[in-house]
Amino acid sequence: MLKPIPIKDDLFYIGVNDRTKHLFENLWPLPKGVSYNSYLISDEKTALFDTVDICYSDIFFHKLEIALNGKSLDYVIINHMEPDHSGSLGLLRNRYPNVKVVGNKRTADMVQGFYGITDGVMVIDDGDQLSLGKHNLVFNLTPMVHWPETMMTYDTTDKIIFSGDAFGTFGTLDGGITDTQLHPERYYDEMIRYYSNVVGKFGSPVQKALEKLGSLDIKMICSTHGPVWTIDEQIKKVISIYDKLSRYDGDEGVVIAYGSMYGNTEQMAETVAYELAQQGIKEIILHNVSKRSHSYIIRDIFKYKGLIVGSPTYNNKLFPEVEYLLSKVEGRDMKHRYFGYFGSFTWAGAAVKRLAQFALDTKFEVIGEPVEMRQAMRHDTYDACISLGKAMADRLKQDR
Ligand code: FEO
Repeated sequence: MLKPIPIKDDLFYIGVNDRTKHLFENLWPLPKGVSYNSYLISDEKTALFDTVDICYSDIFFHKLEIALNGKSLDYVIINHMEPDHSGSLGLLRNRYPNVKVVGNKRTADMVQGFYGITDGVMVIDDGDQLSLGKHNLVFNLTPMVHWPETMMTYDTTDKIIFSGDAFGTFGTLDGGITDTQLHPERYYDEMIRYYSNVVGKFGSPVQKALEKLGSLDIKMICSTHGPVWTIDEQIKKVISIYDKLSRYDGDEGVVIAYGSMYGNTEQMAETVAYELAQQGIKEIILHNVSKRSHSYIIRDIFKYKGLIVGSPTYNNKLFPEVEYLLSKVEGRDMKHRYFGYFGSFTWAGAAVKRLAQFALDTKFEVIGEPVEMRQAMRHDTYDACISLGKAMADRLKQDR
């Protein structure tokens, strides 16, 4: 069976890789899998940081037992209660009946609700400390990153932040655990996808959490997903990725997300994209919403400032896959996007009207004139799509 992996002195990695699930939260594709990270500090007292998805509890407990090396387990610190991390908590308590479950008030409520645990729970508050011997832990409550009970635990001795989901990524840990052992570049796009899909709605709480972290000297980030960040430059980079995403600050570029049943609306998307390129915009991403998982479209909408949406009229409404995408954008309180739109119909138009309402609801800055096409592309529609592409390019270039 697998063994725990030493990270530093008395700190062990006892997490697991999941290459089986197709969808994270049963929503988001996992082509590169995901890791559920758990850590043990084996000091005079022992402390476990989160558990793992219950599907992997067998491997997890085996690793934990080896890492404990005969010691008792004194504390399990719950930075986050979502069951991909707390899933093995009930079983943990059965195996280690004396372990103290450490969390805040909201954690305690969920520990009872999910696992029926009411005794041996140590309720801590923001700023409270816990000494393990050599290591001293400080609890930082960071609510709504991305659940109400989320917190981060800082080890003042080794300057490690156990950050919960924050700074986590999709993607398994293949062999290595830390950024010194893996190519960090492999994980950045998956970090952005993780953030935008899972945490994206909570920009303001993430900003508050980052403010709190700003006063800490951080030498290592131990997140619950993806690599352990140890290199100074990488730590700065992942914090800056979170900072940028949580401010909804995009790079120069345009996502064109369109629905098209028979290719007519797609020609509008192609024409807008052509003109953007003619105007010198390099980052132009076309997504056919029926083919591309929304997970990746949402990721790219977080990455770039420009968003253009196109849709046919379907049953006197938007094309369903476009409507579904818009609900995900609205559900993330997406801000600060330049927005253009176009639509089509055969006998009665509804798509452009709905897109206009979406622009109002999101308060996106509308760029250019919306284009509405009846049946198929003729010269006037082509020219209007060119104008829309040019208007978007001009707006982006104003920010250079
Ligand atoms: Fe990785 Fe919010 O759970």
